[in-house]
Amino acid sequence: MKKLLVFCVAVLLAAGTALAQGGVKKKRPPPQDYGKVVINNHSANLNLAPVVFNHWPHRSKYTCRLCHVDIGFAMKANETSITADDNASGNYCGTCHNGQMMFAGERIFAACPAKATEAAAKDPTVAQRCSRCHATSVEVKLKNDFAEFTAKFPKQRFGNGIDWIATEAAGLVTLIDRLDGVSSKTKPFVNPVDAIISPHAYGMPDILFSHDKHGVWNGCELCHPDLFPSVKKEAKQAYSMNEIFDGKYCGACHGKVSFPMMDCERCHSKPVM
Ligand code: HEC
Ligand code: HEC
Ligand code: HEC
Ligand code: HEC
Ligand code: HEC
Ligand code: HEC
Repeated sequence: MKKLLVFCVAVLLAAGTALAQGGVKKKRPPPQDYGKVVINNHSANLNLAPVVFNHWPHRSKYTCRLCHVDIGFAMKANETSITADDNASGNYCGTCHNGQMMFAGERIFAACPAKATEAAAKDPTVAQRCSRCHATSVEVKLKNDFAEFTAKFPKQRFGNGIDWIATEAAGLVTLIDRLDGVSSKTKPFVNPVDAIISPHAYGMPDILFSHDKHGVWNGCELCHPDLFPSVKKEAKQAYSMNEIFDGKYCGACHGKVSFPMMDCERCHSKPVM
């Protein structure tokens, strides 16, 4: 019986490595495209190129919490339904991309103008700016080159190929967690103790879940109460690896933006006794 279970786990592990990032069988994207979101609720209908949003140039500057809680982006591609007017009134992308806010001594380029029209996008003096975001059908040279930008960051095998936890801990990136006028002034919560999650499968290594390390990027509100409703020790809900592969629980981030599912040992990290 014990042998059979160990065998099952071995098969699962092998299957996991064959699975692509995110648990679906597809080609692995190059590291700079991991966490890339194409936003296209309106653009193509208006003959505008859909918008490319890359996580890496943003997550190296801001916490997940700032964008997904304070600014209010959904955690699912295209769910926010951003409009040009939203951006022009200083919401969503326009919170920062307003032509005013400074980053590292430079103004962040502005997003869409109010009452944006196709004609505006065709005016060559503005078209270049539009195409930095409305970028799917044009060859856009990014200001920041991925390889150059991340050259000094500690590496990992999957996803962006970056160990983001180590990168932040080494001070190679400094994350902005709050913006005036956008974030509330309440004090951040204090991290509770770290947790060991024991999977209900014999022979599968335990998971060391660090509240400290997650708190840096996610605060508390990105997980509680939506993804993990209970913060009571006795009331932990049961969930399975299949649900995680499906994008629930840990899979809400891992497999899309945070390191992917095929990195089994990075979660199942406690040696089996
Ligand atoms: C992002 C973290 C994470 C990654 C990556 C991960 N797991 Fe899990 N896994 C979990 C958690 C959390 C549980 C515990 C669920 C529970 O039992 O409550 C779990 C449970 C399991 C279980 C127990 C049975 C079940 O279905 O719940 C197996 C087997 C398993 N994982 C296999 C794998 C394999 C194989 C991989 C690599 C392809 C993998 N895991 C990658 C977090 C992860
Ligand atoms: C600068 C803002 C910003 C930051 C910082 C940011 N995100 Fe996002 N994220 C977005 C936007 C915009 C979308 C797309 C939403 C939409 O299309 O409605 C998105 C989408 C996502 C999605 C869904 C992706 C998909 O393919 O469905 C996940 C998961 C996600 N983000 C997780 C994270 C995590 C984890 C972090 C921190 C490591 C993070 N985000 C940091 C803005 C941000
Ligand atoms: C929290 C602030 C913030 C939000 C929100 C934000 N950005 Fe950015 N974005 C930045 C900063 C800062 C830069 C870097 C500007 C620079 O290097 O000149 C940047 C850079 C970019 C770049 C250029 C990357 C490069 O290297 O050339 C694109 C494209 C971009 N953002 C698209 C978006 C889109 C699309 C959205 C909304 C879905 C968005 N951003 C939301 C702050 C933000
Ligand atoms: C910082 C990123 C960014 C820049 C720069 C930008 N946009 Fe947008 N724009 C977006 C996002 C995100 C959407 C939502 C895309 C979708 O869902 O199709 C959008 C949507 C639009 C839409 C369709 C939705 C609506 O409400 O009508 C138009 C038209 C538009 N933009 C025009 C422009 C024009 C013209 C420019 C250049 C002057 C521009 N945008 C520059 C991010 C940007
Ligand atoms: C990345 C997701 C994530 C983030 C961010 C997060 N938690 Fe948790 N939290 C969990 C998980 C997973 C558990 C284990 C319970 C479960 O499996 O349902 C947990 C359990 C708890 C518990 C129960 C204590 C225990 O030992 O079981 C408390 C209290 C708690 N969290 C508070 C917080 C606070 C306060 C923050 C912000 C500083 C925070 N959490 C941030 C995922 C998260
Ligand atoms: C709200 C988004 C989110 C959820 C949900 C989430 N994580 Fe993470 N996790 C992150 C981010 C962001 C990082 C930083 C590394 C990265 O993005 O690749 C991270 C890093 C980690 C690390 C690496 C720690 C290290 O020392 O390098 C482990 C292990 C991990 N997560 C396990 C889990 C497990 C297990 C769960 C579910 C119980 C979970 N995570 C749920 C966002 C999330």
